Amino acid sequence: MPTFQASRGKVANADVEVVAVGAIATADPEDAGDQKVPPVPRLGPGAEAVAEALGVDLFEELRFLRFAGRAGSIARIPTRGAIRAETVLVVGLGQEEDLDAEVVRRAGAAVADATTRASTLATTVPADAGPVAPREAAQAFVEGLALGAYRFTAYKSSADGSRHHLDRVSLHPAGEAKQADLRPGLDAGEITAGATALARDLVNEPPAGKRPPALADRVRREVRGTGIKVKVLDEKALEQGGYGGILAVGQGSDAPPRLVELTYAPKNAQRHVAIVGKGITFDTGGLSIKPSQSMMTMKLDMAGAAAVVATMRGAAELELPVRITGVLALAENMPSGSAQRPSDVYTSRNGKTVEVLNTDAEGRLVLSDALDHAAEKGPDAIVDVATLTGAVKVALGSRFAALMATDDALADELLAASDRSGERLWRLPLPDDYREHIDSDVADMKNIGKPGVAGTIIGGLFLKEFVPEGLPWAHLDIAELAWSEERYGYIRKGGTGAPVRTLLAWLSG
Ligand code: BES
Ligand code: MN
Ligand code: ZN
Repeated sequence: MPTFQASRGKVANADVEVVAVGAIATADPEDAGDQKVPPVPRLGPGAEAVAEALGVDLFEELRFLRFAGRAGSIARIPTRGAIRAETVLVVGLGQEEDLDAEVVRRAGAAVADATTRASTLATTVPADAGPVAPREAAQAFVEGLALGAYRFTAYKSSADGSRHHLDRVSLHPAGEAKQADLRPGLDAGEITAGATALARDLVNEPPAGKRPPALADRVRREVRGTGIKVKVLDEKALEQGGYGGILAVGQGSDAPPRLVELTYAPKNAQRHVAIVGKGITFDTGGLSIKPSQSMMTMKLDMAGAAAVVATMRGAAELELPVRITGVLALAENMPSGSAQRPSDVYTSRNGKTVEVLNTDAEGRLVLSDALDHAAEKGPDAIVDVATLTGAVKVALGSRFAALMATDDALADELLAASDRSGERLWRLPLPDDYREHIDSDVADMKNIGKPGVAGTIIGGLFLKEFVPEGLPWAHLDIAELAWSEERYGYIRKGGTGAPVRTLLAWLSG
């Protein structure tokens, strides 16, 4: 990640290779499709100042380039020695009425894409973003730039071709914005992007490098120095504590399961929340084995746990006044001579028995114990995060997570946080009369419903059995949102880091 600073000086005087400024579209560029010359955008205050320093009619240049200021578009203007930078990027921010933090985030990513070879950048974009307050815009721009420049290079023998070179970025005030407005937004953006990148790194890590004991050790290292306390339950402790679900899933692997408990307990905490993450370090399906195509991406199946660690590190760095208990349920779901069999029954930590008719519905089994463990810590609310069901893709496609909750106020808080983060959530119901879908002939419940019927909701209803009545609880099914097969905006292929930014926005609210 590049280093960011808030600068007091004029952007045109900055000693950098590239300067970026903002422009707001004056008309819908879609409507201008047939016109010979599209409408020229309105320049932000930073852009006006740069045009003056360049001594060119930027308006004419942009007209010549047919640049309409569409969100995410960029015009590249050579400076021909008029200022120190070689290039000015005019960054389209779209129309004023559509301009929000997400547009600024995407503008940051567009700048990252336009500067892969440069190492230094100075920008006024956060101060040019009209209706978005400079502080919020600074945070969004930093997030978009840092996440757009994110690369996973740990396993490239020569990282150079894929590396992003930007290493110093300065944000400059323009118009009414002051350096002091940008500074706090920039700090929050750096921490939030850093946490998101950690979640991406953990998800992108190949499965051999993050089997449960190794991942537990890695988690310790990643939160070192933040004041977060880490407690790891190994297979013996899990046995003693009656963690039947985690053990049932883990028994097929020769790398034993782990439960990791993280505690962030600031003195000024005003509330206590627990966040629980599914941490299947690789999901083969177990004896109900997956077809090879479906298995290819299953290193992503610990994205919930990754998000929990990353969120906690971010919360500690932001010094949020919230006590947070994090619980990670780590296991590798493998087929083997010691694996659980379809129709086996286990007793979960809270005493309920579960008939496992499909060993590929394993996330809910590890979470059953983790939720019970978390509830015992006495939080005011629990949120779990899990790549739980492929069915969420059928319901909502690839760019949403499903939200289910027993408490409307908690659900609304999370939806509001998602509005701010740009990570989209959509609420699904938890109808009581669907509970009979998981009635078992031999145990208290079975771990699957009917094929093709409300798979995501059934997953939620199963988990609800392990949350004490009356304790506000929400479940985020991130099976699709945690991973991307395509690059768009500030999303890169692989782990997306979702929903770290939503959780941090929620905890900050
Ligand atoms: N880890 C998968 C869910 C998943 C699927 C995540 C695709 C990301 C992309 C989960 O453990 C699983 O296998 N779920 C089953 C549940 C079914 C057996 C009830 C599924 O979705 O098919
Ligand atoms: Mn599975
Ligand atoms: Zn899974």
